[in-house]
Amino acid sequence: MTSKLLHISTIGCQMNVYDTNQIAGVLAPLGYTGTDVIESADMVIVNTCTIREKAEQKAFSFLGRLAKIKNANPSLIVAVGGCVAQQEGEAILKRMPHVDLVFGTHAIFRLPEMVRRIESSRCRIVDVRLSDTIEFDGPVAGPLTDGQVSAFVTIMRGCDNYCTYCVVPHVRGREASRHPDRIVEEIRMRVDQGVREVTLLGQNVNSYGNKEGLCSFAELLARVDGIDGLGRIRFTTSHPKDLSGDLIRTFGRLEKLCHHIHLPVQSGDDGTLKRMNRKYTRNAYLEKVARLRVVCPDIAITSDFIVGFPGETDRQFQSTLDLIETVRYEGLFAFMYSDRPNAPAAAFSGKIAEPVKKERLQALLDLQKRITWEKHQAMVGQTRQVLVEGPSRGLASDDTDIAAPQIRWAGRSSSNHIIHFAVPDALLERKELLTGSFADIMIKGAHAHSLWGRLIHGPMSATLEKGETTIAA
Ligand code: 5AD
Ligand code: SF4
Repeated sequence: MTSKLLHISTIGCQMNVYDTNQIAGVLAPLGYTGTDVIESADMVIVNTCTIREKAEQKAFSFLGRLAKIKNANPSLIVAVGGCVAQQEGEAILKRMPHVDLVFGTHAIFRLPEMVRRIESSRCRIVDVRLSDTIEFDGPVAGPLTDGQVSAFVTIMRGCDNYCTYCVVPHVRGREASRHPDRIVEEIRMRVDQGVREVTLLGQNVNSYGNKEGLCSFAELLARVDGIDGLGRIRFTTSHPKDLSGDLIRTFGRLEKLCHHIHLPVQSGDDGTLKRMNRKYTRNAYLEKVARLRVVCPDIAITSDFIVGFPGETDRQFQSTLDLIETVRYEGLFAFMYSDRPNAPAAAFSGKIAEPVKKERLQALLDLQKRITWEKHQAMVGQTRQVLVEGPSRGLASDDTDIAAPQIRWAGRSSSNHIIHFAVPDALLERKELLTGSFADIMIKGAHAHSLWGRLIHGPMSATLEKGETTIAA
């Protein structure tokens, strides 16, 4: 079999990152291996996102640039996958003559056959069929990057919630869950490859298995918790309306479940929540937050917000700011509302002007910046266990304000904070000793987006104390 080079460009959420890995996995048997260099690729796949207008524009501008590369290399196969492919289908082929293949969100496992056909007859193909059930349940575990200690595992796909602003139910189809046995098998494969942490993915993980009569999400978590060699479990996303008492209690019960929950609220105003079709009230949300904190007092809570939803008044926006002050999130993602195809809110009246949306976004981010800073300061002096991910990739630009000497390594705490720490020069080369291990870090200082500290207990500090020069891995 001839070896061929594949470049996959991924735009969007963790689900797309997972899908990209699956795509690489299903195409490997055809002889495709990954390359970062687009110009030397035999095939380029763009895995697209359409959650907001900006993401869709990004996909089309990247695809536009590929036309030149294909001109220089006419045998290049150009494929478009993901949510824009699902949404636009045939229209992409019409608009972009250099595209050979458009495959939707349910077509990944039909890719090998389609790619073979294109290789042999240079035909152009569109496959945007959606199915209500999962026809192929894997497990496929694509290649990991060097030293990768954390991996995504999709446990369900699609969404049945139809929030009025959201395109997801239209491009990812109906909610469908994978079989727990396949999920456990896939996680075991990852653990055998060196992964120590998994993030279980779904649009609404708390309704896992309901439709198919599989086990509940809490039961699935308990099964995953029992996998030997796995150190940590995370999951995302949980819809507040479905956050059950059972799942809340799980945070106090399962040893490996990280003390972090991403619980998107979108707005702090009941009228806006109603028009968004979120099916919970501000008070119901706050009650769940309070219950989570009773069960797990140090739980970190993060959220998503939309500013400038059609009809949002200044007073309603103030309620959102007030909710943020009340909850005091560890962090949040905030977005300016944009109309999406097929989403009912696109037809709502009372659209908010762009400058107002920008102003609201800035006010919200400024508020959270202060809260994050205060929370980071409060962590100084505490010791947190991190899963070591590897050498630091440098600090974010906002994080250069405080001098933190010798910051060389980074890991994540259970609460999902990034913590940098120094290791002695003599051991810097011994990457394999630290990556993927757990270490206790005493936090010495805080930045806007991360923390830094001193390694006080871990494989390397133990070695240093004993004065050993070699350790069995
Ligand atoms: N406009 C702006 N933000 C959106 N999101 C989803 N749809 C839209 C939209 N039309 C945000 C929500 C969601 C996150 C993934 O993206 O906050 O939780
Ligand atoms: Fe979109 Fe709402 Fe489904 Fe989340 S729950 S994917 S916001 S429709």
